Amino acid sequence: MKERIEALMAEIEALSCKNEQEIEEARVRLLGKKGEVTKLFEEFRTVAPELKREFGQKLNVLKNTAAAKIEELKNAAEEAPAAAQAAFDYTMPGDPVQLGSRHPVSIAREEIVGIFRKFGYDVAEGPEVEDDWHVFEALNFPPEHPAREMQDTFFISDSDNPVLLRTHTSSVQVRAMEKMPLPIRIVCPGRVFRNEAISARAHCIFHQVEGLYIDENVTFADMKQAILLFAREMFGAQTQIRMRPSYFPFTEPSAEVDVSCNICGGKGCNICKGTGWLEIMGCGMVDPNVLEASGIDSTKYSGFAFGMGVERIAMLKWQVRDLRNYFENDLRFLKEFETSL
Ligand code: PHE
Repeated sequence: MKERIEALMAEIEALSCKNEQEIEEARVRLLGKKGEVTKLFEEFRTVAPELKREFGQKLNVLKNTAAAKIEELKNAAEEAPAAAQAAFDYTMPGDPVQLGSRHPVSIAREEIVGIFRKFGYDVAEGPEVEDDWHVFEALNFPPEHPAREMQDTFFISDSDNPVLLRTHTSSVQVRAMEKMPLPIRIVCPGRVFRNEAISARAHCIFHQVEGLYIDENVTFADMKQAILLFAREMFGAQTQIRMRPSYFPFTEPSAEVDVSCNICGGKGCNICKGTGWLEIMGCGMVDPNVLEASGIDSTKYSGFAFGMGVERIAMLKWQVRDLRNYFENDLRFLKEFETSL
């Protein structure tokens, strides 16, 4: 029996297994109900009483060694995946990292602002969360004025002086007139909000660039020239503009500006719906009431303002048919503008 214990001990110490299944097999073979170690314990009953003490100790050591070995093998098997990871081949070529590109709305906004910067305009910005004064009242929209309905407003608080999301960047004009020294020559890019149903042509969030020029002797002719030069920079040297009379409470006279269709060159196509013209912005001479509301002497100063939708300009420039594309962040769409960087 002594030899068998020693042989088994040697076997246990040298035990090695490839996987968890082999470990389980070894455990059953040694410690299972009919296992080798278990069998020795049964035989122990027949050992002569004077030897029981010695063999009992040996058997206990054997059993503990077997259990410890199995445990050790199990732990090693669990760590094996980590070891495999450590063997990762770092010289393997990596997955290519996709580079991002600028969003078409950002590209268009920067192009618009860049053109006016060249003309000597500064950039001004204002808050998106505004009060009634800057969005309406100071722009000659008295309370109950029907023109407020033109711009479905998101209200944040419902008091006598409500807090609201600006519906146009004209609010920045007011802030500029209130605090900037004259003359003022600025463009104001920014995000605006209107409570409109989302469709291919309208969204509740979009971007505008506002322009404002106030000085002595600023005339409608100056405005026409500034807009014509802008249109030619933006849509090409052949571009013509036309102005149609319009209405905004804060400008008088007011106009809508169309550019000759850059797709068909003015002959008429489905982009310009056969008219040869595309509407790009609203504009007008700043109403004297608006100058006075911001503390500017309307007998001495005059000015013009204009406002355009960035998404609309981008749609016309790149023939995007559905405004919603700008907000869905589909990489296939965004990647089309990569080369415009
Ligand atoms: N604020 C006007 C709009 O959002 C655009 C505009 C700006 C018109 C400045 C005239 C002058 O529709």
